[in-house]
Amino acid sequence: MADNPPTLERSVTDIVPVPVQAKADPKANFTLTANSVIRAEHQARGVADYLAQLLRPATGYKLPVVERHDKGRPGITLQLGDADRRLGEEGYQLTVKKDGVTLWANTPKGLFSAVQSLRQLFPSAINKTTVQKQDWVVSGGTVFDHPRFGWRGAMLDVARHFFKPDQVKRYIDQIAQYKINTLHLHLTDDQGWRIEIKSWPKLAEIGGKTAVGGDPGGYYTQEQYKDIVNYAASRHITVVPEVDMPGHTNAAQASYGELNCDGKPVPPRTDIEVGYSSLCIPKPITYKFVEDVIRELAAITPGPYLNIGGDEAHSTTPADYKTFYDKVSPMLSRYDKKIMGWHNIAVTNPPTSAVPQYWDPATSNADVVAAAKRGNKILMSPANKAYLDMKYNPQTPIGLHWAGYVEVKDAYAWDPATYLQGLSENQIAGVEAPLWTETVRTSADIEYLAFPRLAGAAEIGWSPASTHNWDNYRARLAKQGPIWTALGMNFYRSPQVDWK
Ligand code: ACM
Repeated sequence: MADNPPTLERSVTDIVPVPVQAKADPKANFTLTANSVIRAEHQARGVADYLAQLLRPATGYKLPVVERHDKGRPGITLQLGDADRRLGEEGYQLTVKKDGVTLWANTPKGLFSAVQSLRQLFPSAINKTTVQKQDWVVSGGTVFDHPRFGWRGAMLDVARHFFKPDQVKRYIDQIAQYKINTLHLHLTDDQGWRIEIKSWPKLAEIGGKTAVGGDPGGYYTQEQYKDIVNYAASRHITVVPEVDMPGHTNAAQASYGELNCDGKPVPPRTDIEVGYSSLCIPKPITYKFVEDVIRELAAITPGPYLNIGGDEAHSTTPADYKTFYDKVSPMLSRYDKKIMGWHNIAVTNPPTSAVPQYWDPATSNADVVAAAKRGNKILMSPANKAYLDMKYNPQTPIGLHWAGYVEVKDAYAWDPATYLQGLSENQIAGVEAPLWTETVRTSADIEYLAFPRLAGAAEIGWSPASTHNWDNYRARLAKQGPIWTALGMNFYRSPQVDWK
């Protein structure tokens, strides 16, 4: 066995997103050994099993999950219930002492948050998939932590390029590390339709065939989609599926001629222009189509929200846009779902349960502020800060730059509560980092654009505004690099960060 490293790679004050309170105690380091156990009672077992699966491959230890009252051996204890009320649903307390580690939360979700923090206190090699011969010392100290915003999201555009279920799961595991709790899947766009709709089978059969640049298409069967949703749920992540409309609909219009005003299918498109497509607003069949899609999608989506798009409908007149949503909005409540949509839907006076997602770089928007005054919570994704598909700089080999170049500091140094003039913190649902995939073809491409910026969006969404500090963040971020390397992830080694 190697000697303990003189200083451990990370302490509790290095955790990303930075906790509400963290106090390091180097005299309280804990060493996980072949004799260690994971203790959990009934409803904490799912998280305990997940933790065991994280720790077993690199340690090679058995790490049995045992009853809470099995006190004989040292280990990690998951304690559920009667935790501090300030921790809420997602918060946790974490204590690392010489004789053991305790995670304490009010819910399994909170314990899951604690596990993500605990992982960072181990040597980075804990993330490898083969047995590593070394000591497994966990940094000592205490953490008290809960999120600033309830909605911390990532979006993956699987329409411009298709990503297989395993690739989506890989991304789910990556975002879960940073306590992201919502995955927005952009399932349909001009270049592809990616979800099986049984009442309109040609959407997947024809609309699923294409992708940007003539690359291979694909779609999820409803069974595959449900499997992704379940996998996300096992990481305490809720999936919000998006069917974009009334624009961004060329793939549907290529699949079914009856969705077009002239009754003829349009040619498929694999270029990256936007704003040319629209459903046919006056035709009754348009609303049968939309309702069938919403009904089928609602039936396979346990989460409360469906995203009904609404962006860049440049080929739909403003009057038609309102007509469209006047008919479509009530469909969501018929299937017991709430509306999520791009902020452009704010002009349609959506129900106050709807969450408009603000994506424009502009710092003022009267329609969005009016919606917030009516009671809608706004999800913040300004493209010049939160879009993961913007290039870092002019040399970045993939990505777009219509909203500018977004370096690691740009992606971190903004406040969702003050970005949009006239909004205040209690009118914000949270933060989402969208990844559009016109130029993104592989998991390595996803990771290169998402990391490190996704970690910044996650910290902005989770950590108290009072902790916001670029120099402190940049030092902690540097220490995430070895974790990503151990996980076999690609990432952008920004010159703004002194990577270890
Ligand atoms: C968008 O970027 N069109 C939402």
